[in-house]
Amino acid sequence: MTAAASEMPAIETRNLTKVYPGFFRDQNVAALQGLNLSVKRGEIFGLLGPNGSGKTTTIKLLLGLINPTAGQSSVLGKPTGDQVTRRLIGYLPEETYLYRFLNARQTLDFYARLFNMNRAQRTRAIDYYLDFVGLDPAVRRRRLKTYSKGQARRVGLAQALLNDPELVILDEPTSGLDPLGTMEMKNLIKELKRAGKTVLLSSHQLADVEDVCDRVCILYRGKLEVEGTVDSLLDVKDVFRVEARNVPPALQAEVVAMLEKGSGVSEVEPGVQRSRLEDLFKRLVLEKRAAERAQSKPAGTAK
Ligand SMILES: Nc1ncnc2c1ncn2[C@@H]1O[C@H](COP(=O)(O)OP(=O)(O)OP(=O)(O)O)[C@@H](O)[C@H]1O
Ligand SMILES: [Mg+2]
Repeated sequence: MTAAASEMPAIETRNLTKVYPGFFRDQNVAALQGLNLSVKRGEIFGLLGPNGSGKTTTIKLLLGLINPTAGQSSVLGKPTGDQVTRRLIGYLPEETYLYRFLNARQTLDFYARLFNMNRAQRTRAIDYYLDFVGLDPAVRRRRLKTYSKGQARRVGLAQALLNDPELVILDEPTSGLDPLGTMEMKNLIKELKRAGKTVLLSSHQLADVEDVCDRVCILYRGKLEVEGTVDSLLDVKDVFRVEARNVPPALQAEVVAMLEKGSGVSEVEPGVQRSRLEDLFKRLVLEKRAAERAQSKPAGTAK
């Protein structure tokens, strides 16, 4: 990759808009409204938002699975839908759609053939990615219809990674996973970053997003409401925080007393935590809903 190419954003959208047509015009759904977004190469970017806020719509637009009503997007420097670029993207859909009567190895073999891998390449890639996603070897030759949700999710991820994509798009990667599976998935995502890949993910698991994402945005009714690095969104700028182990109580009291004597210093609270993504998210969604309620018609009229 040339220097110029590596500086080019992995994903860029300009005024990206999607209106799903309804049977009548007033049934149209403005799923995404004028989205401007730029995801850098090599970063993990989180798309957040309540149900129906446009996350999956954004992902489908970026994959070229649906066409925008207005605006443009580019992926890896090429307009969305470019055939060559498509081969550089790995995609884990919101629901894992796999052939129920194949086992994990047969499933991956099927996709590996689509990528024109020869037999030796296929065997190597299948073993490598099934190990990478941590699929229990005991189930690898069992039909997928017998798999638990978490096992199927892992096969879905292995399939998304099979062609060693530059950009990995994961729609709700932790959905259906138990806490341990979730932790493993987070580690896998970090591993992808270490391997130089760009990851775009959507999620409702805010604590997980906070752990893995470099930057996030929050969508609300198809509009981008907040965007930034996790640190910039969550760091409380005017708060000074020190952490230390084994500080004797007397010294703790001394430090607190010293701070309290400082001019203009207020609210000295030992052990104060930074805010969490969950707090930010809830505050935004609750504010928006309250504003909508305040604007809506009086009770008794149709919504
Ligand atoms: N094919 C479609 N036809 C009509 N409306 C649609 C279609 N697909 C999605 N929508 C609507 O567009 C809006 C955004 O949906 P989208 O699936 O992008 O949300 P999401 O943020 O992924 O939600 P979730 O968190 O529930 O997965 C919703 O109001 C949804 O009902
Ligand atoms: Mg969705």
